[in-house]
Amino acid sequence: MSNDPYALAATAAAALKSTAGVESFDVALVMGSGWVPAADAIGTTVAEIPVTDLPGFAPPAVAGHAGRIRAVTTASGRNVLIFLGRTHLYEGLGVEPVVHGVRTAIAAGVSTVVLTNAAGGLRPEHQKVGEPVLISDHINLTGAHPLTGARFVDMTDTYTPRLRDLAREVDPSLAEGVYVAFRGPTYETPAEVRMSRILGGDMVGMSTVLEAIAAREGGAEVLGLSLVTNPGAGLVGEPLNHQEVLEVGRATAARMGVLLANVVDKL
Ligand code: HPA
Repeated sequence: MSNDPYALAATAAAALKSTAGVESFDVALVMGSGWVPAADAIGTTVAEIPVTDLPGFAPPAVAGHAGRIRAVTTASGRNVLIFLGRTHLYEGLGVEPVVHGVRTAIAAGVSTVVLTNAAGGLRPEHQKVGEPVLISDHINLTGAHPLTGARFVDMTDTYTPRLRDLAREVDPSLAEGVYVAFRGPTYETPAEVRMSRILGGDMVGMSTVLEAIAAREGGAEVLGLSLVTNPGAGLVGEPLNHQEVLEVGRATAARMGVLLANVVDKL
């Protein structure tokens, strides 16, 4: 097998298209923790494939991260790839498995990538737990980067303004915020949360930014949505816990599903 990550993504895309029996895909959705239950609202399932059936994907590592790719057709006839779970940098497998899904989706024809995640809210004064927030920009504090070499990709409009406008047409109450990514797997310390606020962050999490970079490099437009599952560590004095993160996702699945389905319909 090739060790060129782009060639590996092309091989995975060919296998994905032939297994699903779909010639080309339009949109990819990456469902972060808390978002998986919302996937059912997007459209009619054509095929569902364990990621481990395709080259280059790591097996799922975290409970609640399902590790499957669903091919779906929407009511308006768009072919959508839904990644039910993602690989995180904190799994220790390196950067390439983290961005392999996005690269595979782009190799399968996708021109719009919707990245969702669960996040700690840095502005509890105006962010409620269970609310989605549009990602307007990010700060990459993971210490990692998916690109190597002289690839000077412009990151001015990483989270495409046009797509954010579309999302706000669907839900005018959507707030926007800057997503600060840490490597994890620990949640942030209260000092890191205070630092992130000072740096201009509005949410903290452990995903999304590397995928957004890979998507921009591949020429796709990106829409990012964080589900605020808790106030950032130290902001309200309660310890954080992964079960609560998943619980907020289950409790808001219907609303997030409708939001995503309506947004995908407009893309
Ligand atoms: N920090 C990082 N990742 C998260 C959080 C958080 O507070 N909540 C959900 N995912």
